[in-house]
Amino acid sequence: MSETYHRRDILQMGTAAGVGLAAGALGSTPPARKMIRVGFVGCGGRSQDLIPVLLALPGVKILALCDIDEAHLARAQDTVVKAGQPKPEGYSRGETDYRRLCDRSDLDLVINATPWQYHAAIALAAMNAGKDTATEVPAAVTIEECWQLVETSEKTGKRCIILENACYLRESLLIMNLIQKGVLGEPLYAEAGYLHDLRAVKFNTVPIGEPWRLDHTIRRNGNLYPTHAMGPVAWWLDINRGDRLDHLVSMSTKSRSMKEFAVKTFGPSDARSNTTYAQGDVNTTLLYTEMGREIILHFNTSTPQVKEGLLRVQCTKGTFNSHMDEIFVEGRSNRSDSPDWLDHDYAEPTAEYRKQYDPKLWQRMEKQTGVGSHDGIDYMELYRLIKCLQEGREPDIDVYDAASWSAISQLSENSVANRSRPIDVPDFTRGRWKTRPRLDVDAID
Ligand SMILES: NC(=O)c1ccc[n+]([C@@H]2O[C@H](COP(=O)([O-])OP(=O)(O)OC[C@H]3O[C@@H](n4cnc5c(N)ncnc54)[C@H](O)[C@@H]3O)[C@@H](O)[C@H]2O)c1
Repeated sequence: MSETYHRRDILQMGTAAGVGLAAGALGSTPPARKMIRVGFVGCGGRSQDLIPVLLALPGVKILALCDIDEAHLARAQDTVVKAGQPKPEGYSRGETDYRRLCDRSDLDLVINATPWQYHAAIALAAMNAGKDTATEVPAAVTIEECWQLVETSEKTGKRCIILENACYLRESLLIMNLIQKGVLGEPLYAEAGYLHDLRAVKFNTVPIGEPWRLDHTIRRNGNLYPTHAMGPVAWWLDINRGDRLDHLVSMSTKSRSMKEFAVKTFGPSDARSNTTYAQGDVNTTLLYTEMGREIILHFNTSTPQVKEGLLRVQCTKGTFNSHMDEIFVEGRSNRSDSPDWLDHDYAEPTAEYRKQYDPKLWQRMEKQTGVGSHDGIDYMELYRLIKCLQEGREPDIDVYDAASWSAISQLSENSVANRSRPIDVPDFTRGRWKTRPRLDVDAID
């Protein structure tokens, strides 16, 4: 019995206490507040996308910033001052100085855009200090950390949101709308991936002594960055809200591309050319859900490739494929006068569906998305988070999503390391996935 199974079983044995505690915590919605006072930890690359969006949103003040690198901290302080807000207090006294920031009494929300290994610790510190928290992806690296997030959120009643911007892709919300309006029928199978050549980023952004991204590629082998793909799919399939992830199997190819890139870039005698990279170049993870659906997640940040935004779903009435920009809806796309039933080339272009089923959020907010990067989804994710907190509503994404989407990384590593053996996905909701209401696409506005 693996450690994962064991821990879940122990926790499920204690469901009476666990559920009671959780229901209490979830029963209280956040208080409505006109102003959300933010502390921001990790002022590196990602902060330069997120801080300008926060500064553009009405009713947000950034009061505190934290980074171990004083130059990064000063740059972020400068950005805030240039936007007309007072200079936020800086925290840069080392790796755990985020604790002092979390302990301030004047913050509502702690946002965290640090390297992966700090995400859970910072989120835990924030919740334990009485703040809601939003963390960059993934929310945690290990299953143990995922459980800690869930237990701490339940215990403190504070929210732990994973900042999964891919959920707000217009394309993804369109698919969600097509499913929820009954056009495509019930989803049976979904496929998505994070396919992005990050070799240069992994080798060049940080000096070789402390390469946080590279370090994961050296030590680990699985789907290390699952949430950009899992988030959208989870929304289509009502994961944790009517269905849940049950088990997965995962397989990685051998590792070739990192070493080849290093030899070509730094020469054969460089240490990076003589390092062993555990992460296989191409990882594929197959998940099965409690309600009998299937999900394929692709992960590859090591090979030469074009960045792909693959989103594909097969439902009982039809299929949508973002790559082909085509949709097939039985009875609507196929011509009844077709001379040859073997001619399966019935797919329709998506233009009409895009007009009719354009998600509300994008119809209303498209003009504002000029602020921020990633084609507007950074704006959308923070707009939604801040709006929900201001209005005293639960944000779109919660700690159960943060835990179950992030857990795929360690679970896939366990499967890869064991000849692709099936691995159970813990039920972080402890059974409440059965009764938690579906996230209504029209309520994401
Ligand atoms: N959602 C997206 O589209 C997206 C895009 C890029 C990055 N990210 C995520 O954002 C996070 C940050 O990535 P990045 O590209 O900004 O990395 P980065 O290395 O550019 O920045 C990280 C920053 O955190 C600081 N830091 C490190 N340890 C710290 C600590 N203990 N306390 C305070 N500050 C600390 C570093 O000095 C640096 O300024 C990662 O989790 C990454 O996966 C998400």
